[in-house]
Amino acid sequence: MEKNRKLRSQDWFGKQDKMGFVHRSWLRNQGPPNDMFTGRPIIGICNTWSELTPCNGHLRELAEIVKKGVLEAGGYPLEFPVMSLGETIMRPTTMLFRNLASMDVEESIRANPLDGIVLMTGCDKTTPSTVMGACSVDLPTIVVPGGPMLNGKFRGGEIGSGSFTWMIKENETSGKWSEEDFLEAEICGSRSAGHCNTMGTASTMASMVEALGLTLPGASAIPAVDARKKVMARLSGRRIVEMVNEDIKLSKILTREAFENAIVVNAAVGGSTNLIIHLTAIAGRIGVPLSLEDFDKIGSNIPLLLNLQPSGKALMEDYYYAGGLPVILNELKNHLHEKAITANGHSHHFNAKKAKNYNNEIIAQIEEPFQKAAGIAVLKGNLCENGAVIKPSAASQHLMTHRGKAVVFSSMEDYKARIDLPDLDIDENSVIVLQGVGPKGFPGMPEVGNVDLPAKLIKKGIKDMVRISDGRMSGTAYGTVILHVSPESAIGGNLALVKEGDYIELDVPNRKLHLDVSDQELAERRKLWVPPAPHTNRGYVKMFLDHVEQAEKGMDLNFLVGGSGSEVKGDSH
Ligand code: FES
Repeated sequence: MEKNRKLRSQDWFGKQDKMGFVHRSWLRNQGPPNDMFTGRPIIGICNTWSELTPCNGHLRELAEIVKKGVLEAGGYPLEFPVMSLGETIMRPTTMLFRNLASMDVEESIRANPLDGIVLMTGCDKTTPSTVMGACSVDLPTIVVPGGPMLNGKFRGGEIGSGSFTWMIKENETSGKWSEEDFLEAEICGSRSAGHCNTMGTASTMASMVEALGLTLPGASAIPAVDARKKVMARLSGRRIVEMVNEDIKLSKILTREAFENAIVVNAAVGGSTNLIIHLTAIAGRIGVPLSLEDFDKIGSNIPLLLNLQPSGKALMEDYYYAGGLPVILNELKNHLHEKAITANGHSHHFNAKKAKNYNNEIIAQIEEPFQKAAGIAVLKGNLCENGAVIKPSAASQHLMTHRGKAVVFSSMEDYKARIDLPDLDIDENSVIVLQGVGPKGFPGMPEVGNVDLPAKLIKKGIKDMVRISDGRMSGTAYGTVILHVSPESAIGGNLALVKEGDYIELDVPNRKLHLDVSDQELAERRKLWVPPAPHTNRGYVKMFLDHVEQAEKGMDLNFLVGGSGSEVKGDSH
């Protein structure tokens, strides 16, 4: 440890007075000997374990292993729970609560006598919410990603979480599956602890934190139930104590270069569009400028190196056995910043130089990628003046330039009520426009942008159509889906003014999304537009509605952007 640097926790435990007694004495009921309070780094293990977050159900046990590592390195581990966000269960959408969970994390860290933090994460929002909160305090922090489930196995084949779910309507509509088939597929798809095993948002977030440098090398792809996950957790426990001693705060790792590395890696692994919103919000908390255009500029020409669902075929377990993220980082070395350090104090270049690829059908060499350009494309035009995004690697090539007639749904309720009506005027060239699913509109910007096609077109064998909304899409989803349209319809963006039968032009190569309606006509329509009534007048949701930023700014609450450091004035006794 740097000479003369006093640990933050000593402000609580290092005092030989009434307050020191109070801070130590009640903790003594858990049995720590005297020497736990005499200058050991106190490590907070911030746990998103919850039985209501199935993907994080094993994190209670994994935290015990982290504690062993902390103790071995001379620290004192203290675990605490924070709000956990279970993607498959919470309503109306976990995204409504990401910022609330980040506030819980931030205040829990700052208010307690902690010197370093281990973030235990897994399901989609549990990673960005904890990282955002930790950034606003800026202590030394390491992430332990909970890891993916084992591959789904179903009747001799493999099924991926999420991606498989999107096929259910097709199977339902075509009558291919019985009720027994569905019940059997349910358990076969989720047969071990861990998060979704595709490159969905959880795997994208795990790759993101490794690419940012917030984990030990290779941590993100290890399956949740593999013994090597336990080794990684234990080593992370040891390492955070060293990070406290070396004073490696989040802001030393999370530089502009680290964020650029994360954008490059996300493109190469075919990561989710949700990365844009979460990475932007994290950058906002740590004070690094990052724009929507950066994602296109830095990532869109990066080749796809991973053959993983939804962009490819394999699942996370196969990816780990092929060598995991270090192999990708090594392939990408000429695209990554060497100056950026990671949690172990070294660059990706140093950490990954010996990485070996054990299966080049799953991880490609950069000279022979699965796709030449895989990143996210940022669109602009009168339909999305502040931007919209599309993931070309998950879209249909024949729809990358398209002109079609709008079929407009004013809300998810409207969509559900009308999409399968036999007389709905829609064909495969139509453009499905969904309004009212943005940050304020829904509220919480749910993952509904990849709405199912009408049953009558599915029956005809149509697999994809252009769909446009101000919502998000699950990282496991695919299709020619334009998302994050900003300004959203609920605040009067032009998306709110689209009418049935208007022509819409999509031109991904030229990054354009155009509503073929004159400015004069749009101005006339705007005069008649009536803003939707607020969803509620009380509670957290009211605060969310009053303060949430639009998608291109990361959808954080405007007063949470930035940080307040780790200092706390005052004491309660
Ligand atoms: Fe939790 Fe997919 S539902 S990671």
